Amino acid sequence: MESGDAKISLDQLAEEVRRCQRCGLGKARTRAVPGEGPANAEIVFIGEAPGYHEDRQGRPFVGPAGLLLEELLALIRLRRNDVYIANVIKCRPPMNRDPLPTEIAACQDYLDRQLLALRPLVIVTLGRFSMARYFPNQSISRIHGSPRRGESVVYYPVYHPAAALHQPSLKQALEADFRKLPVILEEARSAGKALPEVEIPPEQLRLL
Ligand code: URA
Repeated sequence: MESGDAKISLDQLAEEVRRCQRCGLGKARTRAVPGEGPANAEIVFIGEAPGYHEDRQGRPFVGPAGLLLEELLALIRLRRNDVYIANVIKCRPPMNRDPLPTEIAACQDYLDRQLLALRPLVIVTLGRFSMARYFPNQSISRIHGSPRRGESVVYYPVYHPAAALHQPSLKQALEADFRKLPVILEEARSAGKALPEVEIPPEQLRLL
């Protein structure tokens, strides 16, 4: 898919998310938070769920955790406009409680379709909820900073920036894990060149 087509389908998806009433969070939210970033982003960051600031602004990672994410990106000479930022669920759970399994299930296909449109080289999972999508039954303290190669993408689990805000040891771990990202991306680029273009099956194309 050309990046222009991906942009159109990402914009359409965002509109769908803004109208979504698939679960109870649709009634409680101020704004849905579809995600944002360039359609040709090589790296996608996946957080957990919008918090207070994200719910007010309709944009991901714009509160204190977002400031830390921007600091971490700056360590490796990236800005937030260089990457795509999304969440497992697109609406804020009341009082920032953990997302419920039913809410995660209701929202799942939005993120699936975003990833299908973006086709990134690296997916960085921020925290345990997004990690659980790709590393089920694993513990973040054990696997953070260890990339796993999928068929056409590398999955890279790291701690959630919000967890690191008040815990210096987690912040150090997060910084060390971010510093490894450029090499992981470079390897994913080289592996991507070696792979043949993957055909998207027609039944998945219909979802885009
Ligand atoms: N925490 C998240 O997981 N996502 C956001 O968008 C903001 C904070």
